[in-house]
Amino acid sequence: MGITKICCIGAGYVGGPTMAIIAQKCPQIQVTVVDLNEERIAAWNDEDVNNIPIYEPGLSDIVKEARGRNLFFSTDVEKAIDEAQMIFISVNTPTKTYGKGKGMAADLKFIELCARQIAKVAKENKIVVEKSTLPVRTAEAIKSILDNTGNGVKFQILSNPEFLAEGTAVQDLLNPDRILIGGDTTEEGQKAIQALVDVYANWVSEDRILTTNVWSSELSKLTANAFLAQRISSINAMSELCEKTGADVNEVARAIGMDSRIGPKFLKASVGFGGSCFQKDILNLVYIAKSYGLNEVADYWEQVIIMNDHQKRRFSNNIVKTLYNTVSDKKIAFLGWAFKKDTNDTRESAAIYVADDLISENAKIAVYDPKVSRKKVLADLDYLQSRAADENVNSVLSFENPYEACFNAHAVAILTEWDEFVNYDWQKIYDSMQKPAFVFDGRNILNGSDLEKIGFVYQAIGS
Ligand code: UDX
Ligand code: ADP
Repeated sequence: MGITKICCIGAGYVGGPTMAIIAQKCPQIQVTVVDLNEERIAAWNDEDVNNIPIYEPGLSDIVKEARGRNLFFSTDVEKAIDEAQMIFISVNTPTKTYGKGKGMAADLKFIELCARQIAKVAKENKIVVEKSTLPVRTAEAIKSILDNTGNGVKFQILSNPEFLAEGTAVQDLLNPDRILIGGDTTEEGQKAIQALVDVYANWVSEDRILTTNVWSSELSKLTANAFLAQRISSINAMSELCEKTGADVNEVARAIGMDSRIGPKFLKASVGFGGSCFQKDILNLVYIAKSYGLNEVADYWEQVIIMNDHQKRRFSNNIVKTLYNTVSDKKIAFLGWAFKKDTNDTRESAAIYVADDLISENAKIAVYDPKVSRKKVLADLDYLQSRAADENVNSVLSFENPYEACFNAHAVAILTEWDEFVNYDWQKIYDSMQKPAFVFDGRNILNGSDLEKIGFVYQAIGS
């Protein structure tokens, strides 16, 4: 029997968009997304689809089409679990901030709570799908909790990691490079795998749907993110060498990217990668390797994070050094706060760390991001606990308008590669700034020679 009712626990950046696409592509399946966060669910249900809590190009139209038809958002977690034949777990798995594995291991408390809740509510056999990125062998822990409830219900656990990137989530979900499904090799496990394959087969061709055992699937997700992040740290390491030698990192990236074995993607030097996945997943990988005593493996991958931290710090140090070794009471305009363009997500954004360094040097930060509010900027800085919250309030000026953010500033720092920044009236910005006026391009998106013609002192990563 095919699946007719799906529940997804967690209405975040992964659960929300993924379920919206499943609902759009499978009108015969009722999809209910549940979350404990009432405010978030209310926003998903907002009459005006422009107010849904996650900004992703194209997402609001899909929600508009499916919501109320076969896509529902609710806080009634138990009812949704009870009704569904297939339950996706898509809750957050942050890095642990306490106890064993602090700062490295994934905190699985939200996952365990979900498993216990499913165990409590389920009266019929169910397929449970891990969607959140998890350490290898988490499925085993979930299975053990579910199998020991004593009410006779049988669960199949599948691993189905999500590979979507924020900002392109809708396109990635509609045209995935691959769908990966890991499950048990038993007959029941294979049936469960097939049930999920059948859901995706509504819009993904079957040659793109890979099936593996659970652990290969879990580890593939961590490995994919580690490889992608490693490419960025590799090109960022070269960017520092380029700055010293006079080579241009963009030219180097183009030259190596034309080697078909290397390929052109993910070779853009930057102020550092951010986002909720790369750092967390690599730390997780490092922790797992260490826990098996594989210290060389752990050190190898940890270097990717060390390089990324170095790149962020190098950017802020360079601003201070260039502005005559003091930014005290100087206004530095930040264009961009999100960790990449086309998203309102700021988790682990390089901007947070660069701002934190500069505020420690008594700078005033004037932030403009098309999708990020002042409240979010302050919450991100407060989270670092570098200073009292009211000091952050006094150090962060936010603007609705980029021209005001740059007015009277000593320097502009580009922290996110929003397309609109390229089209600004840079002459107008230059005229309104303190002289000499500096641009620090952390995303390599502006044309240096054009800005230099206007009179800016222009510096991009790696040039
Ligand atoms: C990533 C993976 O790409 C995705 O498959 C996985 O499911 C989740 O993690 P995401 O973090 O949303 O997705 O965005 P991604 O496009 O990978 O960018 C991550 C960070 O790397 C951003 O800060 C981006 O600006 C930076 N980046 C990316 C670079 O600095 N240079 C590049 O060449 C590419
Ligand atoms: P991701 O990027 O992995 O989607 P988010 O933090 O955006 O992560 O979303 C995870 C969501 O999961 C949050 O909205 C959080 O409230 C929700 N959540 C966490 N634990 C539970 C739970 N036990 N039941 C329901 N929702 C939960």
